[in-house]
Formats: sequence, structure tokens, C-alpha cells
Amino acid sequence: MSSANPAAYQPSRLHERLSAILTISQQMNSERDLGVLLDLVAREAARLLEADRASIFLLDRETLELWSKVALGSDEIIRFDARKGIAGAAALTGKVINVSDAYNDDRFNSAIDTQTGYRTRNLLAVPLQNLIDGEVVGAFEVLNKRHGAFDAEDEEVLQSLAAQSTIAIQTARSIGELTKENAHLWHEVEGRYARHRIIGTSPKIQSVLQLIERIQDSAVNVLISGESGTGKDLIAKALHYSSPRARRPFIALNCAALPESLVETELFGIEKGVATGVNSRVGQFQAADGGTLFLDEIGDLSLAAQAKILRVLEAKVVDRVGGRTSIPVDVRVLTASNKDLEAEIKKGTFREDLYYRLKVIHIRMPSLREIREDIPLLANHFLGECCRDSAKQIELSNCVLRRLVEREWPGNVRQLQNEIKRLVACAHKRVITEEDLGEGIPEAREQERKSPARARASIKDAVEELERQMISDMLSATGNNQQKAARALGLSRQGLINKMKRYRLQA
Ligand SMILES: Nc1ncnc2c1ncn2[C@@H]1O[C@H](COP(=O)(O)OP(=O)(O)OP(=O)(O)O)[C@@H](O)[C@H]1O
Ligand SMILES: [Mg+2]
Repeated sequence: MSSANPAAYQPSRLHERLSAILTISQQMNSERDLGVLLDLVAREAARLLEADRASIFLLDRETLELWSKVALGSDEIIRFDARKGIAGAAALTGKVINVSDAYNDDRFNSAIDTQTGYRTRNLLAVPLQNLIDGEVVGAFEVLNKRHGAFDAEDEEVLQSLAAQSTIAIQTARSIGELTKENAHLWHEVEGRYARHRIIGTSPKIQSVLQLIERIQDSAVNVLISGESGTGKDLIAKALHYSSPRARRPFIALNCAALPESLVETELFGIEKGVATGVNSRVGQFQAADGGTLFLDEIGDLSLAAQAKILRVLEAKVVDRVGGRTSIPVDVRVLTASNKDLEAEIKKGTFREDLYYRLKVIHIRMPSLREIREDIPLLANHFLGECCRDSAKQIELSNCVLRRLVEREWPGNVRQLQNEIKRLVACAHKRVITEEDLGEGIPEAREQERKSPARARASIKDAVEELERQMISDMLSATGNNQQKAARALGLSRQGLINKMKRYRLQA
């Protein structure tokens, strides 16, 4: 499914895939047993592809063997040489192999048929590949299409199922490793987990993850752009915690929340006695020494403050307010902005030289509308979290998931997360159905009907309107308790206060 191209949006196909993804992702939340997971995924694949059999083989790189359980619930394991046969070829080459006539293909290993007494007519094998680091962990094979042979669409379905399963398999493996309580593994798994908190198998999210992985050993400055709620904070943390600086400080500063008069002191520190009664204070650049400073909403900094940051980046020293000597600092700077900084440069409100220093690498976070295929996975991930927090056992019906996929989501992943929180909080039965969605955010089409003016407004205006409404609703719901409202909305208290100021909402 291509989310960028609405013409390619096929509800029936989508429906089928969603059900499969739903089943698997729900299991991913609860199923930590690798064997059970493999069975489940194989069954789903056979059903979806109308195949007689489906098997998942894991690759043992040391012996170059593929292995799998012989049958559902069995502990017996089948192992064979990955250099022979089509599943092995898919695992070793990382390529999709579709064979319409098995006995006329040189790569086919008929010895297995002889051993098992099964007659393979046609087969399709795809690699199980971790899209983050490209590692192939095995192969996924389906045998004997019920009618005819496997086609290009089947290849696509099996590949997307394989992408889901690879993550599930690796998560299950990580948990298995964790229970070994091996200190070394702990760190590895911890690192992998830090990144896996970013959910999404869409190519756009996967390419962000690949980029994070690729630059994990360097300290380059990264600019993260994207609409509100697309995960910019999450990415900043992933960049820090996957870098060699992970055990040094990570300091996040929201530039929009800094009054102009305090910017310098906050960033660079101040010496004692600069004015009567002033005590010395360490600035955030110094506090982040050896680690990472994340400057959020960088587009809101004044030109004067921008010039000072540029000096720190160039000279790698900070000058405290009233200080006589410069203090050397080693800080990686990550920045985020939901403003279009290039447009700000044209307007003369953002320095071009600073922009290029900050944007050594640019990560653009997609809006949720661009990664609709990730919505079921994200929804189930948030559902799992909410259920754990509230000790409830709740599921989303397939219809609900489909409706969630179709929505506009101007507030992006955060809005989806809040919608799931709302659904769980209001749930009065075990399965959330379409009727429960009624009082939620209207769909885009419905919105258009009700308010054509709003439909024509820019995304930014729509986001702001929604954000304002959500904050106002949550403040009334919590009796103006900012702490509670901030928590429920997924904001820091200061973040909420800033937004309240921006929307002129009374405390
Ligand atoms: N791909 C993702 N996987 C899991 N959780 C996500 C993902 N993207 C965003 N989130 C969650 O959505 C919420 C909003 O994300 P985040 O705060 O990082 O967005 P943001 O882009 O920094 O928003 P803002 O512009 O308002 O500061 C967070 O709770 C975050 O954990
Ligand atoms: Mg943010």
C-alpha cells in the first residue's frame, strides 16, 4: 500500500493486510515465546496467500544452516544446509525468489520432498530482513498456491509480513536473551530496545532508523524537522542513547519557553556577582559537556541568541555572562523545529550559517498521514501501554483499526496516542468497536462537510486549532490541574504552560 498515493488505496487489500498485521502486532505485545510467534506468523501467511503450507526458517550464520520447528507445538527441529534449496538462497542473497515450477528450477532441493513425502509444485521465498541494519535473520517460504502460482502481489504481501515478523522475532529473541541475565547482552539489548521504542515498519520510519544506526558512532549535529507530534523528541533521545555519549548527560531545552532576557544565562551560565545578589550558575552547554544538548523549537531563538550559539559551535568554548575566561566544552547539538527554517532564513529571522552548522544531517519526520500503514502497529503499541498502566484487558476491533487508518491526524502520532488513551479510559467492554469512536475526532471527510472553511485552512492552522481544543478540554477535565493535564496530553508541564500562553488559555 502506498500512503503517498491515494489512488493506490485499496480498502479490500488493506483490510486483509490489516487483519494480519493486527493479529501479529497484538501477539507481539503479549507473546514472548519465539516458537509460538513463528507458528502464528506462518499460519497467517498461509491464510493470506492461499498457500498450502508456510514455514519460517531462521538462519544460523555459524553453520550456514536454516532451522525451524517441524510442526506446531513440536519441539523437534529440522535443520538443513542453507546453501541448498530456495529458502536458503533467499536467506543468503537477501532476494525474493518466486518459482512457478519447482521441479524445473535448479535451485530447488527435492531431497526435502523425498524426506517428507510432500510434493512441491510452486513456491515463494522472501528473506526475513532487519530493515534497520540489513541483517538477514532467515527466510519465509510459502508452498503450493491453491489456485495457480504466486504473483507479484503475493510477493509484496509476504514481504510486508516478513518485515513485521522480523521485528517480532528479534523482540522475542531479545527477551529470551534478557532472561539469561548476561550483563554484556543486557547492554546490547538495551541499546536495541532504545531504538525499538520507535515503532513503524513503513519505509519512511525504517529509513530514519537506518540513518540513526548509520550515524550512531559519530557526534554530528542533527536537525530534526517535522510537524507537531511526529516524534522529534523521541528521535533526539534515540540519537543520544544509541551514541557513544549515551552515558553522559542528555539535556533538552525548549527555546520557545526561554524569555529573551534569560537565554544567555540559561545556555552559557553566569558568574557570581554580575549583579547584586547573583550567584554563579552553570549554563546548559556546560551541563551537557561530553553529552548531548537538544535545542527544541530552535526556530524561536532570537538572532542575538543564534549568533552566540554559532560561536560555541565554532570555537567549542562557552563564555559565561560576566566571565573572564572561556570554558572549553564538548557538546553534540541536536535541534528540532516544526517551522520551515529555510523560509525563516529567507525572511531574515534565522541565520543561514547557523542552519548549515546544525543541519549536518537532516532527519525529516513524516506526518502520520504519510505512514498510514504504521497506524495499526502504533495503535496496538499504545493500547498495550495503556492496558498495562490501567491494568485493563482491552482490544481494538478490526473495524476500529480501519477507521483509525483512514483518519487525517493533524496532531500526528501524539494525537493517535491520545485517542487510544481516551478510548481505553472510556472503555466499558473488552473490545472497542466503531461506536466508541463516535465521540472522538471526526474524520477528514466528515470535517469537510461540517466546516468547509476548516478544510481549506492550512495543516498548521488545523493542528493549532486541534491542539488548542485538546488542551482546553483536558484542563476542564482535570479541574485546571496542569500537572495532570500535561501528563494526560503527553507534554511536560512547562510545555503545557507554553502552549497555554500561545493559545491564550487561562490557567
Ligand atoms: N514512531 C513512533 N513510535 C512510538 N511512539 C511514537 C512515535 N512517534 C511519536 N511517538 C510518541 O508520540 C508522542 C509525541 O512524540 P514527540 O513528543 O517526540 O513529538 P514531537 O515531534 O517532538 O512533537 P512537538 O513538535 O509537539 O514537540 C510521544 O509520546 C512519542 O513517544
Ligand atoms: Mg517535541
